[in-house]
Amino acid sequence: MKKNLVIAIDGYSSCGKSTLAKALAKKLGFIYIDSGAMYRAVTLYFLRNNINVGDDAQVADALQHIELNFHSRDYESHITLNGEEVSDEIRLMPVSENVSEVSAHKLVRHEMVKQQQRMGKSKNIVMDGRDIGTTVFPDAPVKFFMTADPKIRAERRFKELESKGNNTTTLEEVFENLAHRDYADTTRKESPLVRADDAIILDNTDLTQQEQLDFALEKVNPFLVH
Ligand code: DC
Repeated sequence: MKKNLVIAIDGYSSCGKSTLAKALAKKLGFIYIDSGAMYRAVTLYFLRNNINVGDDAQVADALQHIELNFHSRDYESHITLNGEEVSDEIRLMPVSENVSEVSAHKLVRHEMVKQQQRMGKSKNIVMDGRDIGTTVFPDAPVKFFMTADPKIRAERRFKELESKGNNTTTLEEVFENLAHRDYADTTRKESPLVRADDAIILDNTDLTQQEQLDFALEKVNPFLVH
Protein backbone atom coordinates (compact mmCIF):
# COMPACT_ATOMS: atom_id res chain seq x y z
CA MET A 1 0.00 0.00 0.00
CA LYS A 2 1.20 3.51 -0.80
CA LYS A 3 2.11 5.60 2.20
CA ASN A 4 -0.13 8.61 2.71
CA LEU A 5 1.34 12.12 2.69
CA VAL A 6 0.96 14.69 5.47
CA ILE A 7 1.71 18.36 4.80
CA ALA A 8 2.15 20.34 8.01
CA ILE A 9 1.64 24.10 8.12
CA ASP A 10 2.42 26.03 11.30
CA GLY A 11 2.78 29.68 12.12
CA TYR A 12 1.44 32.69 13.98
CA SER A 13 -2.24 33.64 14.16
CA SER A 14 -3.79 35.09 11.00
CA CYS A 15 -0.76 34.49 8.82
CA GLY A 16 -2.68 33.00 5.94
CA LYS A 17 -2.07 29.39 6.97
CA SER A 18 -5.60 28.26 6.27
CA THR A 19 -5.77 30.06 2.92
CA LEU A 20 -2.63 28.29 1.75
CA ALA A 21 -3.67 24.96 3.28
CA LYS A 22 -7.05 25.06 1.53
CA ALA A 23 -5.49 26.00 -1.80
CA LEU A 24 -2.96 23.19 -1.51
CA ALA A 25 -5.61 20.65 -0.53
CA LYS A 26 -7.80 21.68 -3.44
CA LYS A 27 -4.95 21.53 -5.94
CA LEU A 28 -3.70 18.15 -4.71
CA GLY A 29 -7.04 16.55 -3.84
CA PHE A 30 -5.99 16.22 -0.18
CA ILE A 31 -8.18 16.63 2.91
CA TYR A 32 -7.78 19.94 4.72
CA ILE A 33 -7.87 19.92 8.52
CA ASP A 34 -7.94 23.16 10.49
CA SER A 35 -6.57 22.15 13.90
CA GLY A 36 -7.20 25.66 15.30
CA ALA A 37 -10.92 25.16 14.68
CA MET A 38 -10.79 22.19 17.06
CA TYR A 39 -9.29 24.29 19.88
CA ARG A 40 -11.82 27.01 19.11
CA ALA A 41 -14.75 24.58 19.26
CA VAL A 42 -13.54 23.20 22.60
CA THR A 43 -13.28 26.79 23.85
CA LEU A 44 -16.84 27.49 22.75
CA TYR A 45 -18.04 24.43 24.65
CA PHE A 46 -16.13 25.58 27.76
CA LEU A 47 -17.64 29.07 27.53
CA ARG A 48 -21.17 27.81 27.05
CA ASN A 49 -20.87 25.36 29.93
CA ASN A 50 -18.87 27.57 32.30
CA ILE A 51 -16.00 25.11 32.49
CA ASN A 52 -13.25 26.31 34.81
CA VAL A 53 -9.93 25.81 32.98
CA GLY A 54 -8.15 25.82 36.33
CA ASP A 55 -10.01 22.68 37.41
CA ASP A 56 -8.44 19.60 35.79
CA ALA A 57 -11.27 17.28 36.80
CA GLN A 58 -13.84 19.58 35.20
CA VAL A 59 -11.74 19.85 32.04
CA ALA A 60 -11.29 16.08 31.81
CA ASP A 61 -15.01 15.54 32.27
CA ALA A 62 -15.92 18.20 29.70
CA LEU A 63 -13.60 16.62 27.12
CA GLN A 64 -15.57 13.38 27.45
CA HIS A 65 -18.69 15.25 26.36
CA ILE A 66 -17.25 16.91 23.28
CA GLU A 67 -17.50 15.37 19.85
CA LEU A 68 -15.92 17.25 16.97
CA ASN A 69 -16.38 16.47 13.30
CA PHE A 70 -15.24 18.09 10.10
CA HIS A 71 -17.37 18.34 7.00
CA SER A 72 -15.64 19.54 3.93
CA ARG A 73 -17.64 21.47 1.35
CA ASP A 74 -15.75 23.04 -1.55
CA TYR A 75 -12.59 22.75 0.51
CA GLU A 76 -14.07 25.06 3.11
CA SER A 77 -13.79 23.26 6.37
CA HIS A 78 -16.92 23.17 8.51
CA ILE A 79 -16.76 21.94 12.06
CA THR A 80 -19.54 20.58 14.21
CA LEU A 81 -19.56 20.52 17.99
CA ASN A 82 -21.79 17.69 19.19
CA GLY A 83 -23.62 17.79 15.89
CA GLU A 84 -24.12 21.57 15.77
CA GLU A 85 -22.43 23.60 13.02
CA VAL A 86 -20.26 26.19 14.84
CA SER A 87 -17.88 27.29 12.05
CA ASP A 88 -18.90 30.96 12.25
CA GLU A 89 -19.36 31.27 15.99
CA ILE A 90 -15.87 29.98 16.77
CA ARG A 91 -14.35 32.94 14.84
CA LEU A 92 -15.96 35.60 17.02
CA MET A 93 -14.14 37.52 19.75
CA PRO A 94 -15.42 35.67 22.85
CA VAL A 95 -13.77 32.51 21.53
CA SER A 96 -10.67 34.33 20.23
CA GLU A 97 -10.18 35.93 23.64
CA ASN A 98 -10.31 32.63 25.52
CA VAL A 99 -8.79 30.11 23.12
CA SER A 100 -5.17 30.70 24.20
CA GLU A 101 -5.93 29.73 27.77
CA VAL A 102 -7.96 26.67 26.78
CA SER A 103 -5.47 25.48 24.16
CA ALA A 104 -2.60 25.74 26.65
CA HIS A 105 -4.23 23.12 28.89
CA LYS A 106 -2.36 19.83 28.89
CA LEU A 107 -5.45 17.61 28.84
CA VAL A 108 -7.02 19.58 26.01
CA ARG A 109 -3.84 19.34 23.94
CA HIS A 110 -3.43 15.61 24.57
CA GLU A 111 -6.96 14.90 23.42
CA MET A 112 -6.75 17.12 20.32
CA VAL A 113 -3.34 15.76 19.27
CA LYS A 114 -4.65 12.22 19.61
CA GLN A 115 -7.62 12.99 17.36
CA GLN A 116 -5.45 14.85 14.85
CA GLN A 117 -2.97 11.98 14.59
CA ARG A 118 -5.84 9.61 13.93
CA MET A 119 -7.05 11.80 11.05
CA GLY A 120 -3.65 11.75 9.38
CA LYS A 121 -2.99 8.07 9.79
CA SER A 122 -4.08 6.78 6.42
CA LYS A 123 -5.16 9.77 4.37
CA ASN A 124 -3.43 12.48 2.39
CA ILE A 125 -3.94 15.60 4.45
CA VAL A 126 -2.92 19.21 4.81
CA MET A 127 -3.18 20.26 8.45
CA ASP A 128 -2.49 23.74 9.78
CA GLY A 129 -1.90 24.88 13.35
CA ARG A 130 0.90 25.67 15.79
CA ASP A 131 2.45 22.30 16.65
CA ILE A 132 1.69 20.17 13.60
CA GLY A 133 5.28 19.83 12.40
CA THR A 134 6.72 19.55 15.90
CA THR A 135 4.28 17.45 17.95
CA VAL A 136 1.39 16.10 15.91
CA PHE A 137 3.36 14.92 12.86
CA PRO A 138 7.07 15.35 13.62
CA ASP A 139 7.84 12.98 10.72
CA ALA A 140 5.79 14.85 8.12
CA PRO A 141 7.93 15.03 4.98
CA VAL A 142 6.85 18.56 4.11
CA LYS A 143 6.52 21.29 6.72
CA PHE A 144 5.94 24.99 6.31
CA PHE A 145 6.34 27.71 8.91
CA MET A 146 4.42 30.85 7.96
CA THR A 147 5.05 34.39 9.10
CA ALA A 148 3.87 37.85 8.03
CA ASP A 149 4.07 41.41 9.28
CA PRO A 150 1.82 41.75 12.40
CA LYS A 151 0.04 44.85 11.04
CA ILE A 152 -0.82 43.11 7.79
CA ARG A 153 -2.07 40.10 9.73
CA ALA A 154 -4.37 42.27 11.89
CA GLU A 155 -5.75 44.02 8.80
CA ARG A 156 -6.47 40.68 7.12
CA ARG A 157 -8.26 39.28 10.17
CA PHE A 158 -10.19 42.55 10.64
CA LYS A 159 -11.43 42.41 7.03
CA GLU A 160 -12.40 38.76 7.48
CA LEU A 161 -14.48 39.66 10.56
CA GLU A 162 -16.05 42.61 8.73
CA SER A 163 -16.97 40.45 5.77
CA LYS A 164 -18.80 38.15 8.18
CA GLY A 165 -20.90 41.09 9.37
CA ASN A 166 -19.05 41.72 12.63
CA ASN A 167 -18.61 45.48 13.06
CA THR A 168 -18.33 45.75 16.82
CA THR A 169 -14.62 44.88 16.95
CA THR A 170 -12.01 47.53 16.10
CA LEU A 171 -8.76 47.00 14.19
CA GLU A 172 -6.84 47.87 17.38
CA GLU A 173 -8.65 45.16 19.31
CA VAL A 174 -7.83 42.61 16.63
CA PHE A 175 -4.16 43.71 16.68
CA GLU A 176 -4.01 43.42 20.48
CA ASN A 177 -5.65 40.00 20.40
CA LEU A 178 -3.14 38.72 17.84
CA ALA A 179 -0.21 40.08 19.85
CA HIS A 180 -1.59 38.45 22.97
CA ARG A 181 -2.11 35.10 21.23
CA ASP A 182 1.38 35.18 19.65
CA TYR A 183 2.84 35.70 23.09
CA ALA A 184 0.70 32.99 24.69
CA ASP A 185 1.30 30.50 21.86
CA THR A 186 5.08 30.90 21.89
CA THR A 187 5.59 30.94 25.66
CA ARG A 188 3.20 28.24 26.88
CA LYS A 189 4.62 25.13 28.53
CA GLU A 190 2.76 22.53 26.46
CA SER A 191 4.05 22.30 22.87
CA PRO A 192 4.66 26.00 22.28
CA LEU A 193 4.66 27.46 18.79
CA VAL A 194 8.17 26.99 17.49
CA ARG A 195 9.52 26.34 14.04
CA ALA A 196 10.52 22.71 13.45
CA ASP A 197 14.17 22.54 12.36
CA ASP A 198 13.14 21.06 9.02
CA ALA A 199 10.24 23.47 8.34
CA ILE A 200 10.45 25.72 5.31
CA ILE A 201 9.88 29.39 6.20
CA LEU A 202 7.27 31.21 4.17
CA ASP A 203 6.99 34.96 4.87
CA ASN A 204 3.96 36.05 2.92
CA THR A 205 3.88 39.76 3.81
CA ASP A 206 4.47 40.70 0.17
CA LEU A 207 3.29 37.56 -1.62
CA THR A 208 0.02 37.05 -3.45
CA GLN A 209 -1.98 33.90 -2.72
CA GLN A 210 -0.95 32.47 -6.08
CA GLU A 211 2.73 33.11 -5.34
CA GLN A 212 2.42 31.33 -2.01
CA LEU A 213 0.70 28.37 -3.62
CA ASP A 214 3.34 28.13 -6.36
CA PHE A 215 6.11 28.26 -3.77
CA ALA A 216 4.50 25.51 -1.69
CA LEU A 217 3.72 23.28 -4.67
CA GLU A 218 7.33 23.41 -5.76
CA LYS A 219 8.39 22.12 -2.33
CA VAL A 220 5.68 19.45 -2.17
CA ASN A 221 6.13 18.17 -5.70
CA PRO A 222 9.10 15.84 -5.02
CA PHE A 223 7.00 13.96 -2.45
CA LEU A 224 4.02 13.31 -4.68
CA VAL A 225 3.61 9.91 -6.23
CA HIS A 226 3.06 10.55 -9.93
O1 DC B 1 -5.36 29.05 13.94
P1 DC B 1 -6.34 29.74 14.90
O2 DC B 1 -6.01 31.19 15.14
O3 DC B 1 -7.75 29.55 14.51
O4 DC B 1 -6.12 28.98 16.29
C1 DC B 1 -6.82 29.33 17.45
C2 DC B 1 -5.97 29.13 18.68
O5 DC B 1 -5.77 27.73 18.88
C3 DC B 1 -4.61 29.77 18.63
O6 DC B 1 -4.58 30.97 19.37
C4 DC B 1 -3.69 28.76 19.24
C5 DC B 1 -4.45 27.48 19.31
N1 DC B 1 -3.90 26.40 18.49
C6 DC B 1 -2.98 25.59 19.08
O7 DC B 1 -2.60 25.82 20.22
N2 DC B 1 -2.47 24.53 18.39
C7 DC B 1 -2.86 24.27 17.15
N3 DC B 1 -2.36 23.21 16.50
C8 DC B 1 -3.80 25.12 16.51
C9 DC B 1 -4.29 26.20 17.21
